[in-house]
Amino acid sequence: MFRRGAAIEPRSMNNTPFRILGIPGSLRKGSLNRMALQTAQQLVPENASIEIFELGGIPPFNQDQERQPPARVSEFKSRIRAADAILFATPEYNYSIPGVLKNAIDWASRPYGDSAWEGKPVAVMGASPSMLGTARAQYHLRQCFIFLNMYPMNGPEVMIANAPDRFDTQGQLTDERTRGLIRQLLDGLVQWSLRLRNEPSRVPVLGSL
Ligand code: FNR
Repeated sequence: MFRRGAAIEPRSMNNTPFRILGIPGSLRKGSLNRMALQTAQQLVPENASIEIFELGGIPPFNQDQERQPPARVSEFKSRIRAADAILFATPEYNYSIPGVLKNAIDWASRPYGDSAWEGKPVAVMGASPSMLGTARAQYHLRQCFIFLNMYPMNGPEVMIANAPDRFDTQGQLTDERTRGLIRQLLDGLVQWSLRLRNEPSRVPVLGSL
């Protein structure tokens, strides 16, 4: 776990604070997943920050436009590239990830050879009113990381089940155990990202196994 004052400082390459891009997979105003990301903004380690990118305004993917994408897509790709790491908060729709999230992932992965996701460290969490807390959606999302060549944190798995009971009316996550898990995820994401950057030779390279 990242500890404040430890040998490796959570800074990005140019010595600015470590930047995480948080992506909620829901457009809904009262989204539990956006609330989870807003909570993460409060729990992020010192010298790191989370900016939230809203997927609103990203049109349905059309491969005819992938070389001249809509402005919102270009902005999305720039924001991904500027980030040191990605944090998805995904709802579960019909046992998978929402179409708006998959659509945005597809846009940012194109055209072939110009994916914004390439080599990005990534962490996942998700909130649902159900008992399984987006488990099935999270595993579908993780499957995408393979082709995208992203580097996912394996744990902790933050699956926020019975989510409406864990947030208060102001959207604050009140459940201490879940707050602890999110803190652990964020500390781990910073450490994982720095480790990938500082020790590339210790990371297995796809295709060389
Ligand atoms: C859902 N929901 C849902 N929940 C779940 O745990 N498993 C599921 O498969 C589904 N399927 C599903 C499909 C569709 C089309 C909708 C609209 C909803 C419920 C879902 O978890 C709930 O609406 C969450 O609150 C959505 O996340 P946000 O918008 O609160 O972030």
